[in-house]
Amino acid sequence: MQRPQLDEFIKRMNPESVAIIASARAATRSNDTHYRYRQDSDFYYLTGFDEPEAIAVVSPSKEQKFTLFVRPRDPEREIWDGRRAGVEGAKAEYGADEAFPITEFEEKVGDYLNGATNLYYRIGNGNADLDETIIHQIKRLRTLARKGMRAPEAIIDTGTIIHEMRLFKSPEEIEMMQRAADISAEAHREAMLQARPDMKEYEIEALIEYIFRKSGANAPAYTTIVGGGANATVLHYITNNETLRDGDLLLIDAGAEYQGYAADITRTFPVNGRFTAAQREIYDLVLEAQLACIEMVRPGSRPQDINKRSVEVLTEGMIRLGLLKGDAETLIKEEKYKQFYMHTIGHFIGLDVHDVGRYHIKDESRQLEPGMVMTVEPGIYIAADTKEIPEKYLGIGVRIEDDVLVTEDGNRILSSKAPKQVEEIEELMAKN
Ligand code: GLY
Ligand code: MN
Ligand code: MN
Repeated sequence: MQRPQLDEFIKRMNPESVAIIASARAATRSNDTHYRYRQDSDFYYLTGFDEPEAIAVVSPSKEQKFTLFVRPRDPEREIWDGRRAGVEGAKAEYGADEAFPITEFEEKVGDYLNGATNLYYRIGNGNADLDETIIHQIKRLRTLARKGMRAPEAIIDTGTIIHEMRLFKSPEEIEMMQRAADISAEAHREAMLQARPDMKEYEIEALIEYIFRKSGANAPAYTTIVGGGANATVLHYITNNETLRDGDLLLIDAGAEYQGYAADITRTFPVNGRFTAAQREIYDLVLEAQLACIEMVRPGSRPQDINKRSVEVLTEGMIRLGLLKGDAETLIKEEKYKQFYMHTIGHFIGLDVHDVGRYHIKDESRQLEPGMVMTVEPGIYIAADTKEIPEKYLGIGVRIEDDVLVTEDGNRILSSKAPKQVEEIEELMAKN
């Protein structure tokens, strides 16, 4: 059985150590109903195992390096909740060297901890019961020191290894991210084709998520944002229940999750298919900033410098349009641009939409390297009650967001199938 990520993880561990990685817990929606289960990204990355109530124990120096504790088969429960891999499946289907029922974890964990120099464990990762079990076992080992037991000397966050691995996407992962982006781009195109005045924002949301699911995506990678008019100036607008108005822009931030991998795409377009002159001025500026920043996504660039470029282009443009007054240098130093551009240029993306991986190393913004994927998403958001700016811009919100893979010699835009040039958008929408 192939388990390349797990094998690489083992290689990077201190050999005299043990790692404990837990599955995500089922999340309650209300009373006794649950949200659809979503596995913990670290756990999924290492094991591919998609059930709750599972724990992986990794011991590089032992004969049995990879142990899975899982829910045992249970015909009665499986009638209600579906098939479980069980102890046998954990070995046969997921490559565990040994497997036990999850109920045996507590009695066995002490044996794994005993004598390990380091414990790799992500404390505070949403499973307080497991945190407590592990602390209890460590304390127990300390009290048994005279009997030759030995508690770990240090607890190290598993993220120090796993997150660095996750930051660099393998060809297989890139394929899945491309698929997530393709599905999402199709949904954005379809939204452009179908949007028209008097529709509800939630109709567009439903259309987008229909395309996600119909294409085999697990779910949206985050709550879909469909904001018409001034709703586009609310960064995390997710109520999506207003009516789309003729003459307004529509901002859609929507991305599918495919086989666990996220896309994160934003497009902004006119509800009636034609940009007004004022909307186009803002739109063109955001696009100018986005293209300039995407150009910088290549090996050796630093996210901090890409962000700085977005601030420069947007600030200079906002002065030209009369949104800001003064000289660019001062406005940037005093962060005056934040009235209209209040977030940063983007983030890593992968199994999590806001993915893991360190942005800084020793206080310095790290350099991009091939295999990293980041979003590039500048925006301008002009609240409807802003004072002392040209009235024609009030209530306009524009963001353009793409997912960009760093390649050996530059980049590849995974989300390029979603139109973003004004002419492309207007041409597509004219087909409606
Ligand atoms: N959709 C969340 C983000 O753009 O970061
Ligand atoms: Mn987004
Ligand atoms: Mn994003």
